[in-house]
Amino acid sequence: MSNVLAVNTANKTFFSSGRKTQALSDVTIDIVAGERVALIGASGSGKSTLIRAICGLEVLDKNSGALMIHGREIQSHGQLSKNVRQIRNEIGIIFQQFNLVNQLDVMTNVLIGICPQKNVFQIISRQFTLEERAKALDALETVGLVDFAYQRASTLSGGQQQRVAIARALIKGAKVLLADEPVASLDPESSRKVMETMVNLSEKLDLTFVTSLHQIQVAKKYCERTIALNKGCVVFDGLTKDLNATMLAELYGSNIGNLLMEDDFNYFEGVSNSEPKLALVQ
Ligand SMILES: Nc1ncnc2c1ncn2[C@@H]1O[C@H](COP(=O)(O)OP(=O)(O)O)[C@@H](O)[C@H]1O
Ligand SMILES: [Mg+2]
Repeated sequence: MSNVLAVNTANKTFFSSGRKTQALSDVTIDIVAGERVALIGASGSGKSTLIRAICGLEVLDKNSGALMIHGREIQSHGQLSKNVRQIRNEIGIIFQQFNLVNQLDVMTNVLIGICPQKNVFQIISRQFTLEERAKALDALETVGLVDFAYQRASTLSGGQQQRVAIARALIKGAKVLLADEPVASLDPESSRKVMETMVNLSEKLDLTFVTSLHQIQVAKKYCERTIALNKGCVVFDGLTKDLNATMLAELYGSNIGNLLMEDDFNYFEGVSNSEPKLALVQ
């Protein structure tokens, strides 16, 4: 299978207010086409920094190797590739905040995905072609929201808005979907719909899907592979079903509370004892 994403020795150090933080430390990852990968870790473990680096939004340290998408270099040795903007078109990106323009209708919000302009006024005044509009409707169809095309974005629920954001991210035909905590601000039912939408799309369009998640239960349900970060280091990279409470307790120690949400705690009783009673992920 072809390698879609290759991260070779990613290092990132932040210096702020006299403090040095090693956000990523020798992170090396290979992801092949069609994989669904969860990126887990306590708050501050480096998930967002890694996702931002993959999108070329964060420049890694000089002592890092190359970071490639489809064999093309996004950055290496602390320098962004000259073609980074072009390569970025191959990646759809979703964030926790949906970043829709509330006053615009759903259709126009999706069309923003093909707009080089960022300015709202330029977007409103731009005449979209029939072909572009048809593409936007297709994208909305794939996320199950075509009936909402002419409604203002602000009238949709959080989960629906996130699905619009998915349609916007994919309208250009990206084959890689990166998501940073896409369901962190959604209720369980909306989270389920958003995750199912992404999983269905990944299957239908043969997308490679990498998402950071706070809840291990969500990773368990939707992603067959999990990469766990702790203080910037990869501490687990394997099948999600192989993660269990004992391992997580070992990996995260006292940081574990930070990693788990309320739902997870139901599965997690006894982990603070030396012998956990219940496996977290089975
Ligand atoms: N722009 C920044 N300036 C300084 N420190 C940062 C910056 N971005 C992230 N960090 C630090 O890097 C570490 C990893 O952050 P982040 O990647 O956001 O973690 P996560 O997404 O897992 O919560 C944290 O300690 C965070 O405070
Ligand atoms: Mg984050």
